[in-house]
This record gives sequence, C-alpha cells and structure tokens, in this order.
Amino acid sequence: MRHLLVIQLRKKAALTVGLIGGLAFLVLAILATWLPWDTDSLAENKNKPAGEKTASEDPYLYLGATSCSGSACHGSTTPRNKLRIAQNEFYTWSQKDDHAKAYEALTKPDSKIIAKNLKLAKPEESERCLVCHAMRVSPESQGTLYDLTEGVSCESCHGPAEKWLGAHIRKDFDRQKGTAVGMYNTKNLVKRAQKCLECHGGMEGKVVDHELIGAGHPRLSFEMDNYTHAMPAHWLPPQDKKEREWIGARAWAVGQAMALHNEVQLLITSRRSRDGLWPDLTHFDCFACHHAVVDHLRGVTDQDKNEQRWRFREYDGKPGRLVWRSSLYSVFRYTVNQISPEEGKTLDQLVKALHEGLAGKGGSPDAFSATLNRLAELAEKIATQAAQYSFNQRVVLALMRNISGDGQRLAAVGFQSAEQAVLALASLHDSYVDTVGPLPDGKAVKESIDALYKEIQVSRSFNPMQFEASMDKIHKQLAKTDGATRGAP
Ligand code: HEC
Ligand code: HEC
Ligand code: HEC
Ligand code: HEC
Repeated sequence: MRHLLVIQLRKKAALTVGLIGGLAFLVLAILATWLPWDTDSLAENKNKPAGEKTASEDPYLYLGATSCSGSACHGSTTPRNKLRIAQNEFYTWSQKDDHAKAYEALTKPDSKIIAKNLKLAKPEESERCLVCHAMRVSPESQGTLYDLTEGVSCESCHGPAEKWLGAHIRKDFDRQKGTAVGMYNTKNLVKRAQKCLECHGGMEGKVVDHELIGAGHPRLSFEMDNYTHAMPAHWLPPQDKKEREWIGARAWAVGQAMALHNEVQLLITSRRSRDGLWPDLTHFDCFACHHAVVDHLRGVTDQDKNEQRWRFREYDGKPGRLVWRSSLYSVFRYTVNQISPEEGKTLDQLVKALHEGLAGKGGSPDAFSATLNRLAELAEKIATQAAQYSFNQRVVLALMRNISGDGQRLAAVGFQSAEQAVLALASLHDSYVDTVGPLPDGKAVKESIDALYKEIQVSRSFNPMQFEASMDKIHKQLAKTDGATRGAP
C-alpha cells in the first residue's frame, strides 16, 4: 500500500487544476489546425467496425463476484494458504479494494456534480460512467448472479467465468486451459497492463475525455507497478525465484511501454469514431494550456517576463504550439535505451513524427496514420521485450541514476513528466530493495523519494526549481552506492 498516498492526492490535484485566461483564442487555433484531419478521416472511416473487442461481445457468461465468494473458494476471511492461492481474495477485494466501490462512487456527491455539469440524469445509470465503474456487459452475457452494483469485480480483470469456474479448481487445470475459454491472463505483464489501461487510460467507447475532466472527473494517470501496489494485493508473489526477482522493475517498464501503446491506440480509434474535435485535449499536456500567462511586457517584473517566454519543450517544437503529453515518453525513453537501444532510435523518430503530426505538420493524413500504426506496434514490441528483459542490480541503479540526474530536463518538460519520474524512482527503488536488499544509504534515499512525492501532490503548486534540487539530491545519494555495486551482475 506504499504509494496510495500520492495517488489519492493526485486525484485532488486533478480536481483543482486552475484555468487561466486566453483559452478561447487557443481553441480557435486548435480548430484551425485540426480540421483538415477531421473531414478526411470521417469519410475514410464511416463504415469501419469498432477496433477493439468490448466486454459485451464476449461469447461467455459473466457470473458475478458472488460466484467466487464461497468460504471454501475465494471467500475466506483469513489467508488459508501461504503457497499459491490464499483463498481470501473476495474478502480483500470487497473490504479493501476501491474497485469494489467503483459503482458506489457514482452515487456520491462528487459524481452528482460531474453528472450535473454534463447534464446526465443519474451517473449510476449512465453508460458513460458504467463502462469503467462497473462490470458493464450486454444482457446476453449476464449470468443469473450477475450484479452491476458490485462495481469492478473479479471477472472485470479475470475474464468471464462461465466455462472455467468449474474447471479451474481441478488438479489438472492450468492457465492455458483457462485462457482458451475466457480466463484472462493477468500473470502476463503485457496483458495485465492492457487490462488495467482499458479503464486507467481508456479505449474506444470508454474514455475520460476533456469534457469529463472539465466536469470534475480526476485526470487519469497510471503507472502499473505503483498502481498494482496501491491495490491491496489479493495474490501472493510468484513462487519461482527468477520470476519474483525484479518483478517491480519489469512491471514498471512493461507498463510504460503499454501506456504509450494505449495512448496511440486511443488516438487511432478516436480518429475513426470521433464525433467532435480530434484529438481530444487530454492527448496534450494539460499544463500547456492551464498555466499562468503574462501577455504584456511593460510594467511587469523580470519574473513575470519569464512567464511570458516560451519554455523548453521535449522535442524541437515551436513556441505557441500545443504539445503532445510527452510524459508518456520522457521517462520511458531511459528504459528503451537500456533494454533495446536499436528500437530506441526508431521510437525517437516516431515520437517526433507524432509530435509533428499532432501539430498539423505531419504531412498527409495517410502518412500520419502510418506513423500512428507503426508507433503502436513498436510500443507493444518493446513491452514484450521489457517483460523478458533480465534486469539486474547494475541496470536498475543506472536507470535510477539517469532519471534522477536529469531533473532539470524533466522539471522543464512539465508536471506530468515530473510525476512519472517520481513514480519511476519509487518503483525502481522498491524493486531493488525487494530483490537485493536496502541500498547502502537506503534510509536517506527512501526519505528523499517520499519528500519528492510531496512535491507532486498539487500540480498547481509544482515548483520546477525545487523539484530539480530534490532530484539532484537523490542523484548524489545514489552516487554513494558505487562501491556497493561495483562488479555486481
Ligand atoms: C475510462 C474509464 C472511466 C470512465 C468512462 C469514467 N471513470 Fe470515473 N474513474 C475512473 C478511474 C480509473 C478512476 C480512478 C482514478 C485514479 O485514482 O487514478 C475514476 C475516479 C472517479 C471518481 C473519484 C473516485 C473516488 O472514489 O473519489 C469519481 C467521482 C468518478 N470517477 C466519477 C465518474 C463519473 C460520474 C463518470 C461518468 C460521467 C465516470 N467517472 C466515468 C475511470 C473512469
Ligand atoms: C482490478 C483487477 C482485478 C480484480 C477486480 C480482481 N483481480 Fe484477481 N488479480 C488481479 C491481478 C493483477 C492479479 C495478480 C496477477 C496474477 O497473479 O495473476 C490477480 C491475482 C488473483 C489470483 C491469484 C492468481 C494466481 O494464479 O496466483 C486470484 C486467485 C484472484 N486474483 C482472484 C480474484 C477474485 C476471486 C476476485 C474478485 C473477488 C479478483 N481476483 C478481482 C487483478 C484483479
Ligand atoms: C473495468 C475498469 C477497471 C479496470 C480493468 C481496472 N481498474 Fe483500477 N479503477 C477503476 C475505477 C473506476 C477506479 C476508481 C474507483 C473509486 O475510487 O471509486 C479504480 C481505482 C483503482 C485504484 C485506486 C486509485 C486511487 O486513487 O485510490 C488502483 C490502485 C487501481 N484502480 C489499480 C488498477 C490496476 C493495477 C488494474 C489492472 C490490474 C486496474 N486498476 C484495472 C477501474 C478499473
Ligand atoms: C488545448 C488547451 C487545453 C488542454 C491541453 C487542456 N485543457 Fe482543460 N480546458 C481548456 C479550456 C479551453 C477549458 C474551458 C474553459 C472554460 O470553460 O472557461 C478547459 C477547462 C478545464 C477544466 C474545467 C475547469 C475550468 O476552469 O473550466 C478542467 C478541470 C480542465 N480543463 C483540466 C484539464 C486537464 C486535467 C487537462 C490535461 C489532461 C487539460 N485540461 C488539458 C483548455 C485545455
């Protein structure tokens, strides 16, 4: 539960994003830039089927969480088994996991405000909310105990149980048999990330777009390792030592690649099925628009003038243009360079093309489509490589040093990148401790990372200079670990 704090606070931060003037102007500029894509891809894609399969098309029945809750099944109140399946999964989920309260959240005042702003009658009956806040499946796919009010329940992540519920308790059952009949492979990190991102990133038909955020919904932000740890675990660590080692670092790396994949997939599908502005504003850095501006030079301090000036951007863009939310890449690129330097070069080029395409400079719509498809493919390929990569002490420390050593750039790129950098350091540090044991200066490093969390609690009061100094401090603390890791594998 170590990182729940930041996630909760991050929610509040998103809800309190301040908006400063001059935006109507921007929107006009956006329309001017994007309209060409609009007409083309609308015509091109009218008849295309929706890309991804949704839960409601599943051929199997969803049986509901009470089918899993027998006390001899997953409903024990205390762990019964220390080796494989503890059997208290239902209890953990229903008592401690926010997913079990996801439907209930739609009946609370915050949801009522969101619904009122969106002119939805009842959020708990609105398709727009239920797709993520409950296990929403078509009437034909509902078993007799299916219950929408259970929220995000077992089969939301583990797949419809009709054909494996009976079989999965037999001795000769294995995962392969399960996945053949609807069980979802949550053990596979790439698959797991894909599943979480369906709701924590979004997919066709399930989105937290700028309208929803404007209405009061928290900004979605995801990092698989931290989020997995923030869920009260209803599973045991892998028994196999090799599999257990560096699992946090692997989950982090895979999650990063899949978050990028998910983002590009969202761009592709929303372009096909869009009924409004494309791309949705959530694909851009929030703070590209939501920041203070000074629009004159006379009678203001030098500090004010600095506000006016264009800030550093992740790639060589131009002042005054919208920027893609590069937080999905600004930290991840360290990993790519580590585990797959060749792909790293291609990825750099494709990300640059994405930046340009979103600024309306990407050549023809077809060329941009091709860029998006290649980028999605490559991100998935790297995710698979990351899942198989053998992390070690030296690599994980190098990643931590490289990330913390680049505080200046990350702070300048912006709040969302800083947020990902903190999550990365926390994930890598904890993975190090889990696999190797404490760092020589472990207590100090941990304290510094905890302090960093505080700095990203509220986006509005994010201070790039302070962040840079804190990152630098961690970088220096990590330098002391040299002796301990010299000659390490
Ligand atoms: C794409 C999936 C998705 C959709 C669609 C969606 N949500 Fe959410 N919602 C989430 C996720 C994920 C979180 C948790 C975010 C986090 O903490 O990182 C969340 C969090 C919330 C919260 C804060 C929860 C709490 O316990 O404080 C509220 C309130 C909420 N959603 C209401 C709504 C309403 C109302 C709608 C429909 C108008 C809606 N959501 C649509 C995914 C979604
Ligand atoms: C939000 C997604 C999610 C929900 C909801 C969820 N799980 Fe899980 N579950 C996971 C993940 C992730 C893992 C860890 C990966 C793994 O071991 O497969 C896991 C692991 C498990 C395991 C251990 C599997 C193994 O082979 O070690 C069991 C058993 C399990 N879940 C049962 C349940 C039950 C029963 C429920 C409902 C009461 C439930 N889960 C709800 C995501 C979820
Ligand atoms: C079917 C949609 C769905 C899926 C799949 C899903 N989640 Fe969630 N998740 C939600 C919603 C909705 C919430 C907000 C619930 C609330 O606060 O009421 C949430 C909340 C959370 C929270 C709590 C966040 C906070 O701010 O306290 C964590 C942690 C989390 N999810 C992790 C995961 C992980 C890890 C996975 C994949 C293994 C996953 N989720 C899969 C919908 C989903
Ligand atoms: C292209 C510029 C742009 C981007 C990028 C952008 N927004 Fe907005 N945002 C706007 C505009 C314009 C409004 C509407 C202002 C109004 O109604 O007065 C708005 C409104 C809002 C509101 C409603 C509160 C208010 O003051 O109206 C919130 C909250 C918000 N945005 C959050 C976000 C978040 C979080 C992100 C990133 C995921 C984001 N925005 C990205 C331009 C942007």
